Amino acid sequence: MADSPRHPFLQGLSKHRGAPPTVVVIFGASGDLTARKLIPAVYNLGFDNLLPADFFFVGFGRKIISDDEFRALAAAAVKEHSRRELKEDVWSRIAAHTSYVAGGYDEKAAFDRLAQHIAAIEQTIGREVQTLFYISTPPSVFAPILLNLGASGLAGKYAGQPHHAKVIIEKPFGRDLGSALELNATLRRVFQEEQVYRIDHYLGKETVQDLLVQRFSNAIFEPLWNRNFIDSVQITVAEDVGVGTRGGYYEQSGCLRDIIQNHTMQLLALTAMEPPVANEAEAIRDEKVKVLKAIQPINPGPGGDVARAQYAAGMIGGKTVPGYLQEADIAPSSATETYAAIRLSINNWRWQGVPFYLRSGKRMARRVTEIAINFKRAPGTLFAESDRFNLAANTLSFQIQPDEGLSLILNTKIPGLETRTQPVKMSFRYSTTFGSNTPEAYERLVLDAMIGDGTLFIRGDEAEASWKLCTPVLDAWAAAGRAGMESYVAGSWGPAGGDALLARNHHVWRQP
Ligand code: BG6
Repeated sequence: MADSPRHPFLQGLSKHRGAPPTVVVIFGASGDLTARKLIPAVYNLGFDNLLPADFFFVGFGRKIISDDEFRALAAAAVKEHSRRELKEDVWSRIAAHTSYVAGGYDEKAAFDRLAQHIAAIEQTIGREVQTLFYISTPPSVFAPILLNLGASGLAGKYAGQPHHAKVIIEKPFGRDLGSALELNATLRRVFQEEQVYRIDHYLGKETVQDLLVQRFSNAIFEPLWNRNFIDSVQITVAEDVGVGTRGGYYEQSGCLRDIIQNHTMQLLALTAMEPPVANEAEAIRDEKVKVLKAIQPINPGPGGDVARAQYAAGMIGGKTVPGYLQEADIAPSSATETYAAIRLSINNWRWQGVPFYLRSGKRMARRVTEIAINFKRAPGTLFAESDRFNLAANTLSFQIQPDEGLSLILNTKIPGLETRTQPVKMSFRYSTTFGSNTPEAYERLVLDAMIGDGTLFIRGDEAEASWKLCTPVLDAWAAAGRAGMESYVAGSWGPAGGDALLARNHHVWRQP
């Protein structure tokens, strides 16, 4: 699709967004994420002329393949997954600087070979380059990779200089508080915090970045953004897909670990944080950590703050789909949740008494991610008779995806010779104003890491604060096994327990 001429991304970036000469090394080079997201991201950065002139791309993996074979794999990934077609002139520039190093993640000698490979690149071009390591492997090998980056001297290269080595770590960042602390400790043995970029791809989404802009560049919101005017907040991350071929991974994860602990908590932090003192990484992340720390412990017990469920067979898009327990690689007695809902209380001046409801699930009625801010109702003195005055509470909703946009529900007079009212929706759609071919999250994130901007990445203390909240729930669920696990029909909006969580405060979930 042609880019809209009004698309701001094409108007050029400001000068300080240029990356220095960089070697990107991908661990897990033949993995699924590398093919679906990372290689297309690099290609599209090349397409937009955002890669530095001296840009090198190195795959590292256990498979023994040649440089040419890796280039062919990468080209195939672009053809299949890029948002834009493979253009020969763009791809050949990247391919000419693409190579592959084979080796085991626990094999120190392989990292020495990698170090020599990078030194040879520097010799060829006659200048120093920064290295950006992208760890996109199963978490079981995070630690050996990190330790070998340390032992080979790669992690400490150009320490203290702007072009010091950088490392991106893919999710999952731990599976509970203990393992996240351990991973942070391993990272800190090898890297300084400013070298570390923990990915949550939701932060790279345009609409998630826009949350900050909406909140802090529009003067009308801040005076209302508190317990005096807001009744409740609902954050929904719903998917219509099931676990598909990822059953093996998902059985070890579940909805709370897979989505709530990271993506949903990040949306909450951006919605609820105080205004940062500056538009820069540490100031923003300080505020996110503060609000996560102000969340009260979650009561995972019966009648508490949580609901969990698994999808049962149902209809999606006119087709019958199997239940979770019938999917491939799922234990028949699995106690892994595919839906989770949580009620959170934030104990600070801004939010005390305002419930934040979070929910996420696979095989829900449709794919939608949104943040809905429900305002308190106006006093009903003027328009009180319910037969003539259909009134809703004002709701501001950030439609994160799909159909990205922003809408506000307002009450309006129905044209006519008597006063009757009806709620109407005022909407803004990104696609209408800006066109639809926006950059993918990974493009922004890879570029930011090359530039050294950590704003859209999770700091170590943030990850820990979020795990601290979620771990008691995970522990309680692990102890309970299947006791308390509900089910919901695939293609529905989730189980009764999710509704009950809100009903206690006389709230209902929005049907986005
Ligand atoms: C990933 C989860 O982090 O996010 C997946 O592991 C999920 O299970 C995906 O499907 C959703 O991402 P998006 O960008 O499609 O909303």
